[in-house]
Amino acid sequence: MKIVLLGYMASGKTSIGKRLSNGLSMSFLDLDDYIIEKEGMSIAKIFEEKGEVYFRLIENKYLKEILAKDEDFILALGGGTPCYANNMDAINKTDAISIYLNGSTATMIERLIRKKAKRPLVASLSDDKIPEFVAKHLFERRPFYEQAKLSIKIDGKKKKEVAEELIKLLD
Ligand code: S3P
Repeated sequence: MKIVLLGYMASGKTSIGKRLSNGLSMSFLDLDDYIIEKEGMSIAKIFEEKGEVYFRLIENKYLKEILAKDEDFILALGGGTPCYANNMDAINKTDAISIYLNGSTATMIERLIRKKAKRPLVASLSDDKIPEFVAKHLFERRPFYEQAKLSIKIDGKKKKEVAEELIKLLD
């Protein structure tokens, strides 16, 4: 079994992926961490020095590299991964189970205000600019996220609860 977790920035893809990895005894990969390791640079540095277009190109390249692996894994994508370079088609062409961690606009605004610092797309925005940014961004991105095979609502749930729900669902 291969599992691909997707959803907006700060939806819990990495933490829930790690919990699933423990619960299901499967190995865990995080696409952002994979990129950081391969490129020897933080995501913020890649955006700053090489630009977003370069980031989207290598994001697609490393995603395909991971999807081609023979072994099973749980993979957490970056928030933008599903929305570029036909990445959802590439994912859904494999036998991986793609899962959308689906938070409402209000939930994602509240979480991103707390967690914007390390995220180059939002780090420089003041808190009062976040609601409009997130609402517009989610409007554009949801159609891609909704191409996932499964979707789970995360509003008002702790990461532990989402992980437990997913473990039951996948069992
Ligand atoms: C991005 C989300 C980030 C990272 C990059 C771009 C996005 O991942 O890939 O900063 O476009 O939403 P997280 O969702 O893990 O923050």
